[in-house]
Amino acid sequence: MTPADYMERALFLAGRGRGRTSPNPLVGAVVVSPDGVIVGSGFHERAGEAHAEVRALDAAGAAARGGTLYCTLEPCCHIGRTGPCVVRIATAGIARVVAAVEDPNPLVRGRGFAYLRDHGIDVEIGLQADIATRLNQPFFTRLREQRPFVTLKAALSIDGRIAAAPGVRTPLTSAMANRHAHLFRAEVDAIAVGVGTILADDPLLTARGAYRANPLVRVVFDRQLRTPPDARVLSTSTAGPVIIVTSADQAAAHAAARAALERRGARLLVTGSGGVHEALGRLAADWQLGSLLLEGGATLHTAAWDAGVVDAVRLYVTPHVLGAGGVPFLPDRTFWSAALHGRRVEPLGPDVLIEGYVHGSR
Ligand SMILES: NC(=O)c1ccc[n+]([C@@H]2O[C@H](COP(=O)([O-])OP(=O)(O)OC[C@H]3O[C@@H](n4cnc5c(N)ncnc54)[C@H](OP(=O)(O)O)[C@@H]3O)[C@@H](O)[C@H]2O)c1
Repeated sequence: MTPADYMERALFLAGRGRGRTSPNPLVGAVVVSPDGVIVGSGFHERAGEAHAEVRALDAAGAAARGGTLYCTLEPCCHIGRTGPCVVRIATAGIARVVAAVEDPNPLVRGRGFAYLRDHGIDVEIGLQADIATRLNQPFFTRLREQRPFVTLKAALSIDGRIAAAPGVRTPLTSAMANRHAHLFRAEVDAIAVGVGTILADDPLLTARGAYRANPLVRVVFDRQLRTPPDARVLSTSTAGPVIIVTSADQAAAHAAARAALERRGARLLVTGSGGVHEALGRLAADWQLGSLLLEGGATLHTAAWDAGVVDAVRLYVTPHVLGAGGVPFLPDRTFWSAALHGRRVEPLGPDVLIEGYVHGSR
């Protein structure tokens, strides 16, 4: 096996924590003996539990001495909910550490590597860095841009419409595509919609038929607090909190509506303007959200697109035709699915999923 093979193994293991580690990153680690045998491996299973490096070293035991540790992220050097990994690595007698990427956490950011070098351990950085960065985009986006990684999701007719007419509930996707969408809901930290979608569709916004380890945060962008207190999403508190984003002046102007929503368990996020960018910043800072699925509708999609905060797009294209009266997807905006980076196309029964990143690696 080559060093790239060992790192791929660590990356594969890291992915097994998907949906459970937030706000922590996905991390995998593999310990390789001097004669090239994998003697221990592990991954970070959920926030608060042992780090991948510790699991791999525990599995390797004395066989780790003189070996190489492959890890998908810089080992930590601070005391969080668990002890610093770099100390464990040094005391285990590891001779060389190969890490895919530096940890952007200000508490680490190169200090883990420095500690290892100071303790006579060889350090190599950058093997499979692109894959490791993609793997942890929510974590990197939250730390580098102080907002969650945003995936815009929409179901489209073949002629590029998301609804038959403004405010009209228009089911488009097949059971197979719906199932796919629910599985993805189980992986993200939060789902967001605009109040127009609450009023038109009255969605539950839960991940149905999919195992989810952590609570799912639901966010409603609703400055004027028009969400009805009997909206179905407010009956799903066992799935996770419902946050209503409003602005300070609108919250003051609609005090009675605010009180009624809070009585139903909604959590109000009062921002200066109710703008998407500001709200996302608060959701990352106050709620530690790393990933957010923006499910619509048209107005909120467009606002997020214009704010430049859409990182990935996931379109379920269906065979329906809605015609000129339908509500267009991102009206008057330049959007080509062919321009998405890392574009992937997958048939889902009668529908087709097109997904990809809006920006190249960053
Ligand atoms: N096909 C699909 O994938 C899909 C998915 C979802 C919805 N839909 C359809 O889309 C339609 C609803 O779309 P819509 O455009 O009417 O409503 P929407 O995008 O769901 O909500 C728009 C409302 O969000 C509020 N909002 C709060 N903060 C905002 C911000 N920063 N920027 C922009 N808006 C903000 C605004 O009301 P305030 O000014 O009062 O705050 C605005 O009127 C329905 O027909 C629904 O069935 C389709």
